Amino acid sequence: MDLQLKGITKIFGNNGNKKTVLQNIHIDIKGDEFVSLLGPSGCGKTTLLTIIAGFQKATSGTVLLNGRKVEQPGPDRGFVFQDFALFPWMTVRENILFPMKQKKIPKKVQQKRLRQLLDMARLNGSEHLYPSQISGGMKQRTAVVRALASDPEVLLMDEPFGAVDYQMRRNLQKEFDSLLQNNRKPVVMVTHDVEEAIYLSDRILVMSADRGAIARDLTVDLPRPRDRTAGVYQEYLTQLTGILKNLQKREF
Ligand SMILES: Nc1ncnc2c1ncn2[C@@H]1O[C@H](COP(=O)(O)OP(=O)(O)OP(=O)(O)O)[C@@H](O)[C@H]1O
Ligand SMILES: [Mg+2]
Repeated sequence: MDLQLKGITKIFGNNGNKKTVLQNIHIDIKGDEFVSLLGPSGCGKTTLLTIIAGFQKATSGTVLLNGRKVEQPGPDRGFVFQDFALFPWMTVRENILFPMKQKKIPKKVQQKRLRQLLDMARLNGSEHLYPSQISGGMKQRTAVVRALASDPEVLLMDEPFGAVDYQMRRNLQKEFDSLLQNNRKPVVMVTHDVEEAIYLSDRILVMSADRGAIARDLTVDLPRPRDRTAGVYQEYLTQLTGILKNLQKREF
């Protein structure tokens, strides 16, 4: 996978009331890295991710995915929303089939892939339930495999563990990590949680509140699954927390 952001600028508003949220952002992501965009609330993370997804357009600049210009949403990008955004009128099965139907994948292939995805997410036996009938964890797993259903080139996730409580969040991070280790896929995840970024990422791009500037590009070189109690893990935590604190000091 090769994702290139070239000079992305996003300005909201018009005439007298303009706000530059992102200015001239350059990012290069290659291979099947797990990359996190980490930054304070309002720094433009969701804006940047939705531009990559093609949900909205940049004011200027280009996004290239494997050399092709991104201009609208497409099955080459899977998206997991902060609140999961499952279709409430569809069962787990129908939710997962939806992107495959859109992509007009042959029926036989759809059924085979559905089986694989249900296995992967341990949702066998729950496929005929509606989102309102399943737990938060099951919703999240449905949302992730739905995003994987069209076999996208990259998985984009906006705070995918934000809507659940602390313990559940930890469990989901762990499950998601192992799901991903068994099914390698490049990921770009937005988060404001330092610990979550270190637990999951190969690389962390720290965004500043000042027009989304990438203030740091940090590689996390730790074996998986990661041991949250390890000394080196704690060192990363201290280092990254320090980076964020310094950024805030400079900005306020
Ligand atoms: N459609 C819009 N019109 C005007 N301003 C917008 C719009 N969307 C976002 N913004 C502004 O752009 C800035 C960045 O918003 P964005 O949602 O990208 O932040 P974020 O980093 O994802 O924050 P959070 O961590 O709270 O989700 C905010 O100041 C927001 O008010
Ligand atoms: Mg956001």
